Amino acid sequence: MNIEIFRNCDESDGAVLVMFRPEGASWVGEDRELLTALGVDPDMAFSGKAGRTRLCSGAAGSCLLVGLGKADEVDADAFRSAVGTAVRVAAGQELARLAVDSGHLDRLGLDGDMAAECVTAALLAGYRFTAFKSDPGEDDAPASFAILGGDEGTRARLDRAMAVAEGVRLARDLVNTPSNVATPEYLAGVAHDLAVRYGFGVQAFGPEDIVAMGMGSFASVFRGSDTPARFIVLDSDPDGGRPLVFVGKGVTFDTGGISLKPAAKMHEMKGDMAGAAAILGLFKVIGLAGGAPRRVVGLLPCTENVPGSRATKPGDVVTAMNGKTVEILNTDAEGRLILADALAYSARFEPEILVDLATLTGACLVALGTKVAAVFATTAELDQRIREGGSRVGERYWPMPLWAEYGPPLKSDVADLKNIATREGGAIYAAMFLKNFVPEGVDWAHLDIAGPAWTDENASVFRPGGTGFGVRTLWELVGMYAEGGDGEPAL
Ligand code: BES
Ligand code: MN
Ligand code: ZN
Repeated sequence: MNIEIFRNCDESDGAVLVMFRPEGASWVGEDRELLTALGVDPDMAFSGKAGRTRLCSGAAGSCLLVGLGKADEVDADAFRSAVGTAVRVAAGQELARLAVDSGHLDRLGLDGDMAAECVTAALLAGYRFTAFKSDPGEDDAPASFAILGGDEGTRARLDRAMAVAEGVRLARDLVNTPSNVATPEYLAGVAHDLAVRYGFGVQAFGPEDIVAMGMGSFASVFRGSDTPARFIVLDSDPDGGRPLVFVGKGVTFDTGGISLKPAAKMHEMKGDMAGAAAILGLFKVIGLAGGAPRRVVGLLPCTENVPGSRATKPGDVVTAMNGKTVEILNTDAEGRLILADALAYSARFEPEILVDLATLTGACLVALGTKVAAVFATTAELDQRIREGGSRVGERYWPMPLWAEYGPPLKSDVADLKNIATREGGAIYAAMFLKNFVPEGVDWAHLDIAGPAWTDENASVFRPGGTGFGVRTLWELVGMYAEGGDGEPAL
């Protein structure tokens, strides 16, 4: 889908004008004038219910009315959803070109930059994953989407909105790519390409390096696999100041290892690298946006988790990079084992903040469902910024506790820690386990994205498969922690 920007309506000749309306409202003022100019009756009946559309043709052009739902519930999420509806209807009705008037978007009275949201949402709703189709078929979205009007700054803001969509699309592609292709080496290749294209620093350590660095916890997960692991370090500005450090779980396939998972839905475990994918997506956004307002470091421990004759067995004890010993009682609790060493490794960067993203526990899915991620944060400020930044961009987080009472059940009889406690409270124990590896004094947040990283839905900005969840939150965080910033969004 091509995004175009036109100064006025005439240039968009032939495009179908999309107009959004809350339930029960009627067109007033300049919106009436827009419709009248097309020769469309502004009093044409339309309910404005969420998901409803009406295509109207006038003597001078056509417009697509899209419902936003109940007026008191209309927010940026409802808007993104309506944009998704418009994109799908356009494809179904073979409308090749859509246009939206930026004055119309301003008049919706929503918080934030709706022209930018419109562009990002349209590009995400039009996403398809066709890399493995011998015939990719027709595009399931209009060929072009135009934003009409706007001011001097519009171009720059929409370029950033396109950059954000590209980052999310990369994360989706990586999650959707099967594990026989998207191996740890493949992810390292993606990191390398980003680094070359945008001038980032990059390192990719192999199995021997990982062992030599003392990452025994990470190594315990890749022991069973013939597919070589990688520990990827991406740095937006190696000479910059104290960085924001983001750690992403990169399990390219999680069979559970010796503690083998049941077969049902196991294929979805190709998406167990969604945390790492989100960070690669973020670096794509940073690159396309021409840089980040402060230094960002990504740490991506990447490996398969498979059984094999050399695989870690329940009861084995390993030593992590920070010297703590771990008794591995369940090899399916592998995410925390690779994250442990990546968190410990972050100490050398003296992070301003440390945030990890991981499809870490089924327990989190049980607790919160698929529409929200859990946030476990050591400071109220970090918790608040993640939740606020996330909700601005349609990525929701709900706070979970890191209470001391949840520490003792992770003590092992034979080692310092064991990698599981009870099934009850599983998401919290996973977070409490990670806390043991966070460098002293660093503000840290753990985001369990097991629910929202993947969807079966084909609606709003989503397509079935990987969602790219987390890319946008991280980009918001980068803006909020901009050098010399005050926590207000700077992007
Ligand atoms: N990758 C899974 C968690 C997961 C499950 C993500 C479903 C997305 C969808 C993780 O490695 C895992 O297997 N966790 C176990 C931990 C348990 C053994 C303590 C789980 O949640 O069952
Ligand atoms: Mn697992
Ligand atoms: Zn896993």
